[in-house]
Amino acid sequence: MPLIPLQRLLGTARSDGYAVGYFEAWDACSLEAVLTAAEEESTPVILGFGAMMVDGKWLDRGGIEVLGAIGRSYAARSSVDVALLFNEAHTLDQAKRGIDAGFNAVMIDTHSWPTDDAIVAVRELCRVAHQSGAAVEGELGSPAEATASGIDHSHASLTDPDEAARFVAETGVDCLAVSVGNVHIMMNKEASIDMERLESIHEHVDVPLVIHGGTSFPPSAVAPAVALGVAKFNVGTVLKHEFWAGLGSSVRSVGANPDVHRLLGSHKDSDVMAIAQQRMTTKVRSLIRQYGGSRRQVVAAELSAR
Ligand code: 13P
Repeated sequence: MPLIPLQRLLGTARSDGYAVGYFEAWDACSLEAVLTAAEEESTPVILGFGAMMVDGKWLDRGGIEVLGAIGRSYAARSSVDVALLFNEAHTLDQAKRGIDAGFNAVMIDTHSWPTDDAIVAVRELCRVAHQSGAAVEGELGSPAEATASGIDHSHASLTDPDEAARFVAETGVDCLAVSVGNVHIMMNKEASIDMERLESIHEHVDVPLVIHGGTSFPPSAVAPAVALGVAKFNVGTVLKHEFWAGLGSSVRSVGANPDVHRLLGSHKDSDVMAIAQQRMTTKVRSLIRQYGGSRRQVVAAELSAR
């Protein structure tokens, strides 16, 4: 099935009162886990890959093109509505290459940039992306980040509603990631969300809002956030933990003299990657349900292929 414009996916979610998950994958196996979950829940999904944790040199050696090819090929065989995001590119150039590689949505990680520099780069990205029918996610404000020794607030800033309105107007982004107490890469603890700030941003900004740091976003805050304009949750860390736990338990259960052809690359139930993948799929399904996304679809007549 052709890729669906991100604007269409998020617009439908907003009008129907749910949010779409962007479940960040890192290779074909994890991407397949996400797609399987969306197909089993019969719901639109944002497939894609993020650059934040990935070696920039690898991305620049053709990694972006490889990821784009993997994403396009899974999207083409999907039975549900799919947008394909290249998330948190390190540079404007990488984000542009993401569009050339077939992603129909892109984002630059500008969280530590001065706002005016971010506006210039993101405006240019919107110009290029919109000519190709791709969407751009912007971000204003920077969520705190969990570290081994606690939460690092040193680069964190909350989104200012007036600044957000200016950012959207001056760049032309299709959706906006906000910082309202959400925390990146935090496991086993819930973030404390500033709903009043989210409400004020919603009053100032008309594009769909995005929450990064989905791993630690409190389930009880999902419905109120959706009511205040959030149409997309980004989830990463918890998915890698699920995959890792599945991989660990299956590897530990293998005795001496492993049958490597059964265990690796067979795509049978005995494949250690398939076992890990299944665990990730189960987690993605539960998050889709949490976001109110089960059994949804984008109206066919509104589709426009890229
Ligand atoms: P978590 O890893 O905290 O779920 O956040 C992922 C994310 O925001 C990717 O953009």
